[in-house]
Amino acid sequence: MSRKSFPAVKNDLLLRVCREEGPVAETPVWMMRQAGRYLPEFKALRAENEFVKVCKDAHLASEVTVQPWRRFASGELCEVARSLPWAEVTAENALDAVIVFSDILTIPAALGQTLTMVPGKGPVLTPAGDAFRQVSPEDVSRFVEDELGYVFDAVFASRMKIHSAVPVIGFSGAPFTLFSYMVEGGGSKTWAAARAAFYRRIREDPHFLKPIESVVAQYLIGQYDAGADMLQLFETNADELPAEVYSEFVVPGLRRIVAQVKQSRPEAIVALFAKDYRRLEDLADFPDVLGVGWKDDIATVLAKIKARGLSKVPVLQGNLDPAVLLSGDLEILHKVKELKIKMKNEKWIANLGHGMMPEMNPSMAKTFLQAVKSSL
Ligand code: CP3
Repeated sequence: MSRKSFPAVKNDLLLRVCREEGPVAETPVWMMRQAGRYLPEFKALRAENEFVKVCKDAHLASEVTVQPWRRFASGELCEVARSLPWAEVTAENALDAVIVFSDILTIPAALGQTLTMVPGKGPVLTPAGDAFRQVSPEDVSRFVEDELGYVFDAVFASRMKIHSAVPVIGFSGAPFTLFSYMVEGGGSKTWAAARAAFYRRIREDPHFLKPIESVVAQYLIGQYDAGADMLQLFETNADELPAEVYSEFVVPGLRRIVAQVKQSRPEAIVALFAKDYRRLEDLADFPDVLGVGWKDDIATVLAKIKARGLSKVPVLQGNLDPAVLLSGDLEILHKVKELKIKMKNEKWIANLGHGMMPEMNPSMAKTFLQAVKSSL
């Protein structure tokens, strides 16, 4: 299999920051969970359609993918930015990427667990039990194409819908986070059952996550081939294991996934978001982009990475506390300015340190985007 051919991405700022050696004058920006949840147009579409149905229908999924882009592509100033003499919008397009509408739980679903989105509760998976499908190495490609091809269709439809205006970001859950959800059957406050199962499994076989790794790598490659130029691994639960356990038993798998993707698709940009991992600098030598959660100070993370003396420092992505969006326009402008000062002349993709929340509104997102793009 190989990649389809596409018209070049028109606003390729995000790709240039990742690919070019030297600094790039402008800062690209997008928001984790920018599609869905807080958008009225998403809520309207969801009122009519089941979550899993939206994921599986390329027309609906691509529609949600491009919703934030439709809203935020224009360079209109927010009210507050307009009233401040030092804020001047410098770019026409505020949002520099779209992320495909899907979920990390597509993989557990493909492996046999039924996924339901329960209102007020979140995702619920039927127990893994014996139904858990084991995919052998020679079957991975076929399995991913058969069971997850609908995500590739959504990526392709998204890229077509916007005529390659901005890059499409594809994504996957990372193996440990997927394993946690598979064991718990959904989200958990403590993740104790997931940790317990993890300790038992690594005692039996330290490489027990390998079959999931191959699926993840192939899944990312499929999304690249379908038109996604950047691929993000979401390891939301990186901080749910002791750092030394995570480092010994999980990080090698992340390295293998990134290596496999980069080896077979050298042009693909791979981003890793290992949320709140205490040794983030240890991950700096393999992804192109390293996400920084909102609990970290991005300048400290960068200093620790630089102290390693690597030949290539990854582009950092993040890390505004999403709650800042709830604290008012002036606070957003102030905090974005602080981040800009920290990341001046550094390779940086402006983003939140986690996702948009259902209680937010589009105006908050807009202020964030405009603050990044303005000269403050
Ligand atoms: O912009 C985007 O958000 C793109 C699509 C996207 C979704 N989920 C859609 C979604 C992405 C990138 C994800 C990733 C995801 N899903 C993660 C990793 C990133 C992170 O946010 O930590 C995780 C852990 C999940 C699992 C998941 N899906 C949870 C825990 C929940 C419920 C709680 C919540 O955050 O809303 C979901 C539901 C979900 N996934 C929604 C959307 C738009 C909202 C549910 C709905 O429409 O009913």
